[in-house]
Formats: sequence, structure tokens, C-alpha cells
Amino acid sequence: MQIPDEMLKRAEYISSLIKRSDEVLIVTHIDADGITSGSIARITLDRLGIENEVVFVKQLSDSEIEKIADENKFTWFTDLGSGQINSIIDKKIDFVITDHHLPVMDNKRQLNPHSFGFDGSYELSGATTTYILSRYLGNRLFAMNVDLIPLSIVGAVGDLQDSREGRLLGLNRIVIDEGIKRKVLAVHKDLRFFGKQTRPVVKMLEYTFDPYLPGISGNEAGAINFLDSLGIEVSEWKKWIDLSEEERKRAVNEIVKLCISAGIPFKSIKRIVGETYILSHEEEGTELRDAMEFSTLLNATARYGYEDVGLKVCLGDRDGAFKRARTLLQNHRRNLSEGIRLVDEIGIVELENIQYFDAKDMILDTIVGIVAGMCFSKANLNKPIIALARNDEGIKVSARATQRLVDRGVNLAKAIKLVSEKIGGKGGGHSIAAGALIPESEVDRFLKELDRVIGQQLARA
Ligand code: C5P
Ligand code: C5P
Ligand code: C5P
Ligand code: ZN
Repeated sequence: MQIPDEMLKRAEYISSLIKRSDEVLIVTHIDADGITSGSIARITLDRLGIENEVVFVKQLSDSEIEKIADENKFTWFTDLGSGQINSIIDKKIDFVITDHHLPVMDNKRQLNPHSFGFDGSYELSGATTTYILSRYLGNRLFAMNVDLIPLSIVGAVGDLQDSREGRLLGLNRIVIDEGIKRKVLAVHKDLRFFGKQTRPVVKMLEYTFDPYLPGISGNEAGAINFLDSLGIEVSEWKKWIDLSEEERKRAVNEIVKLCISAGIPFKSIKRIVGETYILSHEEEGTELRDAMEFSTLLNATARYGYEDVGLKVCLGDRDGAFKRARTLLQNHRRNLSEGIRLVDEIGIVELENIQYFDAKDMILDTIVGIVAGMCFSKANLNKPIIALARNDEGIKVSARATQRLVDRGVNLAKAIKLVSEKIGGKGGGHSIAAGALIPESEVDRFLKELDRVIGQQLARA
């Protein structure tokens, strides 16, 4: 595979616009892919001697776009912008975009995999798109910025782009291959659970919900029994990376057997083992060594309003900011397991074509989508799952589908955008994961209408 010439030409044009500016405002998204995208942009501009500043937004709403327009600066949108390019142009912002969300139109100032025949939900992320531009902006002195590849892979993994087949696909592979060649990245075949580097094995198993391991997920005693039965010593400090190769093999075999007997679809079982992306220059046993855990660490900062902490870690702080991020990670993990417990309690309501839960103000709107995705393993796999949460501006909607549903015709970004706009809200995202902000009074209509539209998508395919 190769990056298409048209795309490289586009990158060349966009980099010429950036090089011409003497000050750049970087606007990015508050998740792992957004933080890594913003850091890549920032480091790239620093190296060019271009003054810059990174600001984070939860959503690129009209009011945010107005605020940005008021700054009157050349603006580089990373990991967002493609869904709002009309408003950006309307507000006369001097801009460029490196994004992977479904674009509302093509534009010379926008680098987006969708414009070149690639699916931005898994073939290139915000950070890997931004890296492609960064490479163009690089020079020999900084080895064409290839040292930023690991950060970009953290972004792609943070958006779960490897979850489709257990490895990154599409244009992401070009970035990986270069990373391996330049020895900044290593790829291993291993279990794809969160926490291999940092959680005690018991906790790693207990906190795994994708797939849902019967008797083990969310069940500490079950996880201990499972390891005991394999003759693997359970201790408070022993992590997955501390087990012998033989022990790891034994555990993987048993996990696979357990999943088969639980009737988990073969496709999901296949994804249990896959590629793990190792950041060769980071210390072993830390969250930063493994792209999956690095991305979780970043989510744990930005989704709680501490994006500056995540940004500092990406920019190289291994001291104060890193320690703070680790504390935030503990908190994030607690919130995710409490979120899952809450959904168990309130239950998931099934409509004809969708299922939903209403977390009210009991789950933070910025993590309710993560919880929805994690709940999938115990919900109906044949219907998209919709999560509702309250925030200051209205009702935050997070929607997640499975790959199988997408293959059968579901496109959450299109459905959510259509339905939310019809009832005075706003939304977008990807075919497999999307979100919206809607007025509180319209929730029932929204669900009913969404149920209908998803039904149509399934019927049409
Ligand atoms: O805003 P952004 O593009 O970063 O978010 C992408 C979202 O899609 C993430 O929440 C990610 O976890 C979700 N996703 C998913 N399943 C996939 C791919 C992405 O839930 N297979
Ligand atoms: O919002 P999105 O769907 O991208 O969420 C992906 C995130 O889910 C990961 O970065 C991580 O924070 C979290 N996660 C986790 N443990 C799991 C599954 C997901 O911490 N077992
Ligand atoms: O917030 P959540 O993780 O559910 O977001 C899923 C996807 O939907 C992300 O790609 C996000 O950028 C997108 N989204 C959006 N508009 C919103 C909320 C989320 O485009 N109002
Ligand atoms: Zn993204």
C-alpha cells in the first residue's frame, strides 16, 4: 500500500500554508487521538520555529468556532473540523485541517483519509493523519519527524482503530512500517487486553469487558480462581509482562477456550490476540511503553478536563505531569467500573433496532461513550447501543455499533447527524461510533426517530 499521490499533493499544499505563517493556533479534541494530534502539531511547529498554542475543545460547536474566529489567527484543526468545515469557512477563519471524521465536503485545506478513498474510522486516525502532514513539514535535522510516529500510533489505538482485526489497518500500516524501520516502534503479537504493562494480572482480567469473560469480567474472585486453576501464582504485583512465556501461552489458551464455550463469536475471539505496539524509547513497565495503555492514560487526563497534563506527558514530561496522569488514571478506572456497574443496575432498554441506557448525571458525559462500548459485550450484539448523559448544555448522546452491524449497513455518524439536526441538536462521528448534543425535551423523539433511521439503514443494505 502507498499514500495516494493526490493525498501527498494535498499535504504539500497544506504544509506550504503552514510554513508561511508566523503564528498558529492549534485546536484539537479532548481524547487520546486529539491530544497526540495536538502534540504532534505543536512539536512540528516548534521545530520550524513557528510560534504556536494548543487549545482543546470537547466539541467544535458554533460558539467554539466563533471564539476561534475572534482570535483572528491562522488555525490548524487536528482530529476535528471536517464535520464543521462549512462553519469554519463561514466565519472566515484562515485554517487547515488534519482530521479523520466523516467530512461534510472536500476542501484543499483539509487532509482527511475519506477524501482519498480510505475509511477514517480505521484506516487513519487524527494523529496518524497529522503525522503524515508533520512528515511533510519535517526536515533532515529532525529526521523528518519520524520520532513522532509512536505518538501517532497511540492516537490511532486510542480511537480503537486496531479493534476491527486486532491490528491497525490501511494507511496506518505505512506509518507503522516506517516506525519499525526507524526503530522507534516495535510490534509484538500478544494478548490485547488493557493493563498488560501496569495492572496486576488479576486486575487486568477483572477489568476486561471486550470480550466479556464469563465468571471473570468484573469478578475479582473469579479472576483469582481462574489463575489458580492454571497454576499461575497470583500476587499483588505480578503483571502480565512478568509472567513466563509458557504461563502466558497457557493463560491465552484457557481464555480462548472459555470464550468458545461461552458462545462468543469467532471474530471477537480472534481479536483477543493481536498486535501490541511498543514504544521502544519508553521505560518497560510504565503506561508509556504500550500504545494501548498510553492512550488510556491520556483519556484519563483529557476526559476529566486535565488535557494540559496529557499534553505535557506527550511533550516529554516524565516527572510532575506523568505522576499526576497516573493518579488520574486510577480515578478513570474506578469511574469506568462504576459506570459499568451502574448500567447493570439501571438496565438497557431495547427498542426495535437500537438499545439505550440513560445515565442521567451519574456518568460523566465525556466517558459515557467508553462505558457504552465496554457494555457491548453483555448487551444485545445485534443493535447499536445508545447512551444518554446530562451535561450543562443538554443531553449528550454517545452511540456505539459493532463491526458486524456496520457491515450490515449501519452508519451511526450519518444517522445521528440526521436525527439530531432534525430535533435541534448536533452530532457526527464515525460509522461505528458517533455522538451528539440534543435538547432535553426532545430525548423521546430522538430515540424514536433514531430507531426508525437505523431500521432503514439495515433494511436498505
Ligand atoms: O472523536 P474520535 O474520532 O476520536 O472518537 C472515535 C471513537 O470511536 C472513540 O470513542 C473510539 O473508541 C470509538 N471506536 C469504537 N470502535 C471502533 C473504532 C472506534 O468504539 N472499532
Ligand atoms: O471513547 P473510546 O471508545 O475511544 O474509549 C477507548 C478507551 O476505553 C481506552 O482508551 C480506555 O481508556 C478505555 N478502556 C479501558 N479498559 C477496557 C476497555 C476500554 O480502559 N477494557
Ligand atoms: O463522545 P463520544 O466518545 O461518544 O464520541 C464518539 C464520536 O462522535 C467521536 O468521534 C466524536 O468526535 C463524535 N461526536 C460528534 N459530535 C458530538 C459528540 C461526539 O461528532 N456532539
Ligand atoms: Zn480521532
